[in-house]
Amino acid sequence: MSSVTETKAKAGLQDVVAGESAICYIDGERGVLSYCGYDIHDLADMDRGVSFEEVCFLLWHRRLPTRAELGDLQTQLAAARVLPEPILRAMKSLPAGDGMDALRTLTSMLGHYDSDAGLSTPQANYRKAVRLTGQLSSLVATWGRMAAGGGAITPDPALGHAANFLYLLTGTRPAPLATRAFDVSLVLHADHELNASTFAARVAAATLTDLHSTIVGAIGALKGPLHGGANAEVMKMLLNIGQDAGIERAEEHVRAKLGRKEKISGFGHRVYRTEDPRATHLRRFSQSIGERAGQPQWFAMSERIEQVVKAEKNLNPNVDFYSASMFYSLGIAIDLYTPMFAVSRIAGWTAHVLEQFENNRLIRPRTDYIGPAYPQSVLPIDQR
Ligand SMILES: CC(C)(COP(=O)(O)OP(=O)(O)OC[C@H]1O[C@@H](n2cnc3c(N)ncnc32)[C@H](O)[C@@H]1OP(=O)(O)O)[C@@H](O)C(=O)NCCC(=O)NCCS
Repeated sequence: MSSVTETKAKAGLQDVVAGESAICYIDGERGVLSYCGYDIHDLADMDRGVSFEEVCFLLWHRRLPTRAELGDLQTQLAAARVLPEPILRAMKSLPAGDGMDALRTLTSMLGHYDSDAGLSTPQANYRKAVRLTGQLSSLVATWGRMAAGGGAITPDPALGHAANFLYLLTGTRPAPLATRAFDVSLVLHADHELNASTFAARVAAATLTDLHSTIVGAIGALKGPLHGGANAEVMKMLLNIGQDAGIERAEEHVRAKLGRKEKISGFGHRVYRTEDPRATHLRRFSQSIGERAGQPQWFAMSERIEQVVKAEKNLNPNVDFYSASMFYSLGIAIDLYTPMFAVSRIAGWTAHVLEQFENNRLIRPRTDYIGPAYPQSVLPIDQR
């Protein structure tokens, strides 16, 4: 490796194994993603796959639930989806703006109102994980509804996690296809090994701080455009090209961007050298939901962009590329895309934090020092 490549790899901790985990396995060369040994393609199958709630149980317990265990978890999540009144009041008082900023602030606030606040036993931490998973869904959907001028809706305990999110957001009980497509998208986003936000959460957890603090840190890391923020950037790019512009214009736009050495959001990955297995499912949804919504142009443009980026840079779409047009065709505002990533990833974050707490050691790496030579003399201020 040249020293420039080495420095770059070091800066990004590329291929560094920073711990052991029994939660998620990725083989970037073969395009494999599995949760606790279950292949993502089996979990995310439209008909034979599992629900997001089953994936939560899987990530937290490292086995799939029985029917009775799933029923218990669904009851706990339904209770957690009812947000504490002070959180709803605070939500109304925040200035309009970035959904991730609101999510970060309100998640921190949820810590104050948690019935286990101040308790850090494994049982209390597990209850917090379940509660946060229920709460984040209501929080993001209600924020989205209020941003569009609507009022908060009380969650319906008869609805599953995916349907309830869409109901709280739109005020309408969603159709089965939209529900299952959104459910599968939650399954696909639920965990991804030691991605940036999960690493941030584990580093925080390793100090033995409280669970809410670890999640606030993770939300901050997810917000960045190199991580969860990429899905919103993809849709902004498609809209910038224009819904009536056609696929030729999409191609020109992307070629021009590449010519200027700009990155195309939604492409490339630190670990996958093949297609991101999550993109395989999201591409299909982008097409089918786009067609149903009478908006086939987003998929058509995306497909052409994919061909150009593959041909020019040999890069594949990642999880954020086709999820953007899928969410747009579901009628969801762009500002919610990254918060929606958190609605799902909360399952993985909390699973990793609980695992970190189980067998903890402070995470404290070193740097290579490249600053001024040691020792420097401290000159009096007038001589500097
Ligand atoms: C995901 C990502 C951050 C991984 O970064 P990384 O492993 O550090 O890879 P690098 O940024 O060093 O990229 C390696 C090379 O591929 C190029 N590249 C990577 N992603 C690219 C993209 N999306 N568009 C165009 N070129 C890209 C880089 O310019 C670089 O080229 P160079 O070696 O000629 O300088 C990066 O691919 C990216 O920024 N993608 C866009 C944002 C995104 O979609 N994020 C969501 C990730 S799930």
